[in-house]
Amino acid sequence: MLTTSVAIGDDLISIDTAMQRVDAVIRERLASRVALIDQISHYIVNAGGKRIRPRLVLLFAQAFGYEGSARYELAATVEFIHTATLLHDDVVDESSLRRGRSTANALFGNAASVLVGDFLYSRAFQMMVSVNNMRVLSVLADATNTIAEGEVLQLMNMHDPDLAVEDYLRVIRFKTAKLFEASARLGAILGGAHLALEEGCADYGRALGTAFQLVDDLLDYAGNSDELGKNVGDDLREGKPTLPLLVAMARGTAAERQVIRHAIEQGEVERLPEIVGIVRRTGALEATRAAAQAEADVAIERLRDLPHGTAREALLELCVRSVQRSF
Ligand code: IPE
Ligand code: IPE
Ligand code: MG
Ligand code: MG
Repeated sequence: MLTTSVAIGDDLISIDTAMQRVDAVIRERLASRVALIDQISHYIVNAGGKRIRPRLVLLFAQAFGYEGSARYELAATVEFIHTATLLHDDVVDESSLRRGRSTANALFGNAASVLVGDFLYSRAFQMMVSVNNMRVLSVLADATNTIAEGEVLQLMNMHDPDLAVEDYLRVIRFKTAKLFEASARLGAILGGAHLALEEGCADYGRALGTAFQLVDDLLDYAGNSDELGKNVGDDLREGKPTLPLLVAMARGTAAERQVIRHAIEQGEVERLPEIVGIVRRTGALEATRAAAQAEADVAIERLRDLPHGTAREALLELCVRSVQRSF
């Protein structure tokens, strides 16, 4: 775990303690007059999650010496937006496992999941308004809109084995990297960073988020369901043309290419072991990991102008761990 500390007045509050405050805000803001909302939202929040996006808000705010309580509110806000996207994503992807538990859609149904996702989105908007900063509103409104575009773009790319790598990258920049970017930018805005520095923070977030999704797509073939808390093979079942498959098709024999093409077109999860074999043999896992490493290197480079200190160190470590992670 990170052991970064931040000075607040005469006290030292560790990043872990700050994250506990974020969790307290998350719990407070989940409250609803409607019992089913409470039940489902607590169900998914209590399952945990890595809380990377709120950590970015806190670390960038800390890097610029911001100590106010708006950082907790905004950190919780980005986690709400993330959680809303997960509720919707699991319906769209027909996933049954998330954070080591049955998904909300598996347990409570699609309708309830979508509607509680809407509740979390709109609660996030109530929270961001409370910070009373137009830039903050603009960043989060844009991010939320872009995530939706990314998910729809991905839907349009489903079952297309001829998808270009750059179009795949566009989807992950939209659906995943944008919220990482917004989280980093919010920390910089809270810290009063001037615009050039803020852009550097945003670039860091975008590159880290891209690396993070590349690894997520890799783990869908190379990972372990118990460790991941999600079912591997979900992407293949849906016919999602992700980088491990695109690379394997480019490098494989004509026969291997045909197997993968067919699986993407049909969503043939029964052939997962065979496809994992092709993905491994062609070095597509290493190529995907290398693409993630290249993005992480961009992120690390963008930290160059950030004030030196424990927050910057933690942001560096996050890049290393995001590429090496197995869950
Ligand atoms: C899952 O994000 C969705 C992706 C962008 C890959 P996380 O891996 O951050 O999910 P939790 O919050 O830790 O469960
Ligand atoms: C991430 O995509 C979803 C969003 C960013 C909204 P995935 O569909 O790959 O995420 P997981 O694997 O279900 O967590
Ligand atoms: Mg999914
Ligand atoms: Mg995935």
